[in-house]
Amino acid sequence: MKKGFSKVGIVLAAAGSAVGLGNIWKFPYMIGENGGAAFLIIYLLCVLFFGIPIMSAEFYIGRKGLHRWGWMRWLSMAIATFFFSFYLVVTGWCFQYMYLSITDLLSGHSASELSTLFTTFTSSTTIPMFWMGVGVLLTAAIELMGVKDGIERMSKILMPILFCVLLLMIGRGLTMERSYLGMRFLLYPDFSKITPQLILNATGQCFFSLSIGVGALATYAGFMDKDQSLVSTSYRVILLDTLVAILAGMAIFPAVFSLGINPTQGPELVFVTLPMVFDSIPGGHLFEILFFLLLSIAAITSTISLLETQLNFWEMNAKMSRPKGILISSLLVLVLGALAILIHPFFNLLDELVSKYLLPAGGLIFAIYVGWIANKDDVCREMNVRIKGVSIGKFLFVLIRYSIPPTIILVFLNGLQII
Ligand code: PHE
Repeated sequence: MKKGFSKVGIVLAAAGSAVGLGNIWKFPYMIGENGGAAFLIIYLLCVLFFGIPIMSAEFYIGRKGLHRWGWMRWLSMAIATFFFSFYLVVTGWCFQYMYLSITDLLSGHSASELSTLFTTFTSSTTIPMFWMGVGVLLTAAIELMGVKDGIERMSKILMPILFCVLLLMIGRGLTMERSYLGMRFLLYPDFSKITPQLILNATGQCFFSLSIGVGALATYAGFMDKDQSLVSTSYRVILLDTLVAILAGMAIFPAVFSLGINPTQGPELVFVTLPMVFDSIPGGHLFEILFFLLLSIAAITSTISLLETQLNFWEMNAKMSRPKGILISSLLVLVLGALAILIHPFFNLLDELVSKYLLPAGGLIFAIYVGWIANKDDVCREMNVRIKGVSIGKFLFVLIRYSIPPTIILVFLNGLQII
């Protein structure tokens, strides 16, 4: 008998998968690049409209039994492998910055020096590869311990630490002078900033951040209790993930604005801007170490879900043992990750292609499967929850069947300026 998650365990493990670089690295810079609160509002709409139904659909597919995934397992394996390789490279950056902050090598630099440091590092090969290797080893070690003793236990320890560090950082940011400017940027929308491109970005970000569209959550649902509500679990995971993303914004923008720094640098935001912020505040060095620790922890609880997704594939398709699957998957992503480090356009392609298109496309396929191929009555029964006496199983089904597929296609076509 397979050892599954406990009731709290599945929520924490799925939240561990969801909360990651997407929330703490990507979300703030996407908000920064896309004009602040306007992006946040569209993002929240995506979370409501795509997040709850698609996450529940993934949980449904997973819990129905891994053998039923069929061809979707191939799709899931392919997306997970590409995504994992890209994700590992950035996880490596976090480790390097944790090392640089512990050894105090980030202080005393100007903005342009920090920017050069970042570009020199990310365009070099040996050190990024070394840290990527560390990321794979850590992930593999946790995975070797198994689902309950590895994933669940680590999520239970790491997630609360992550939360406390974020709260500490927010306290620090909000007590700085002019911090209200950052809060205004985050909360006061300028609707003229909403464009088709922004909507495409917000959709991609929603899938990235909620871990949907890969099959990672479907994989976790294979270890879920039969009587646990799919929809309530989704809604708890989504609440936690969205809370962490907003808290990350609140931890970063007040401090950035308080120092009069422009928040639109993109992926550099946390690696270049934040060290500057930390450098200029009392106690900044400690917060800097804590921040990069937080980022690394968040990344690892996500990489384990990606590896678990690949293990599901190896187990079902090749009857491979867990250790052997871990070894092969690790080698596979190491090779792809190394290629992404060596060939920059490949890294950019992975970033753009996977987060913006492949994840929503995966979500689209899961939605089509649950909405059109799976047994309708069974889906409605499994997704049924009552909110104030009204049962919403059917409503979610209708959303999954009729609204989500055309909307995702529309967002793609519109964002690509085809229509
Ligand atoms: N949700 C994770 C993050 O925000 C990334 C992830 C996506 C992990 C898909 C697993 C599957 O960083």
